[in-house]
Order: sequence, then C-alpha cells, then structure tokens
Amino acid sequence: KRVAILISGGGSNMVRLVEDMQAQGYAAPVLVASNDAAAAGLEKAARMGVPTAAIDHRPFGKDRVAFEAELLKPILAAEPDVLCLAGFMRVLTPGFVEQFAGRMLNIHPSLLPKYPGLHTHQRALDAGDAEAGCTVHEVTPVLDDGPILGQARVPVEPGDTAETLAARVLVMEHRLYPAVLRRYVAGDRTPVLL
Ligand code: GRF
Repeated sequence: KRVAILISGGGSNMVRLVEDMQAQGYAAPVLVASNDAAAAGLEKAARMGVPTAAIDHRPFGKDRVAFEAELLKPILAAEPDVLCLAGFMRVLTPGFVEQFAGRMLNIHPSLLPKYPGLHTHQRALDAGDAEAGCTVHEVTPVLDDGPILGQARVPVEPGDTAETLAARVLVMEHRLYPAVLRRYVAGDRTPVLL
C-alpha cells in the first residue's frame, strides 16, 4: 500500500509511521507534504528517504479550495492508496475529503467524541477528567468526526498542565497510529484500543 502523510510541524507522528512502515515492510511512504515549507518534519522525512512537498497555505488567504488544488498536485502525483493526517493543522474542505473518502486517517489528541477541535488537553483538565488520550479516526467532511479506528487512554495526574498531559498523550499517539495504520492497510477495521 502506498501511504502519503500530511504534516504541519515537527512531524513526530509522521516519523513513527514511517519508521514502522520501513521496519515492518507493509507499506511505502510515497510522500510527506506540509502546508508550511519550514515544517521541521520535512527535513526528518527527507533524511528517512521519503519524497517531500510543501505548499504554503498563506498566499491563498481564505481561499481554501485554491490552496487544496495546489496541495493535491504532489499528492495525486504520488498516487497514494491511503492519506494520513499527522499533526496537520489545516481544516480540509468536504470537496478535498470526498476525494479520499474511506482512505484518509487522522490522529486527534482527545478521546473523541469528547473535545473535537483545539486545546483538547486544557479542556480535559478544565472538565476535571480523570482520563485523557488520543483517537485515530477515518476523516469525513465533519471535523474530528468519522469512524473511530483506535484510541489510547492515559490517566490525568494531579498537578497536570496542558503541557504535561500533552506529552503523556503524545507518547501514546506514537504507539497508536502505527498500530492502526498496520491494521488499516491490511483491511482490518477492528479498533485498536490501548
Ligand atoms: C501534537 O499536539 C499531536 O497531539 C497532534 O498534532 C500535534 C503535533 O504532532 N496530533 P506531530 O509531532 O507534528 O506529529
């Protein structure tokens, strides 16, 4: 299976996905693309021998469709079977999502359906939740919605800040996403629960 990964920043989830694919030999990372040419993850991908592309979203202003038309060019050229969003911070239009219906994944740092959107860890702390975590789901036109393919839970500890909780969740993201992708490319939709 040919897998393309979209990132916006450090790409720590992308790195773990590529490492797992290369170690297990079950899929090929055909592209890592970012909406920011300065994304540190692009350099990491290049060092791992993965082709990269960067399409800066800023020149397009509010014209999401125009930005996505540009972003689609390197993605379609790579002919991916699966598209993984990994720390990708741009909202994608239904038109873009529909082109990858049933073959696009995203990782979100909360136990969906709780806390779609941003600032998930602070919201969990503010709500006094005893647990937090992350979710891998199929991407649908509704933001942070879609069939859940995996979840990992972590305890909220006394004195946790959004930063300490985010760090604890990120460790689980790095375990969850590769486990989900392995099943996904094998056609297995049984949720991974960690
Ligand atoms: C992290 O906050 C992670 O929880 C979320 O995206 C952010 C960056 O992840 N998935 P990455 O290091 O770029 O993969």
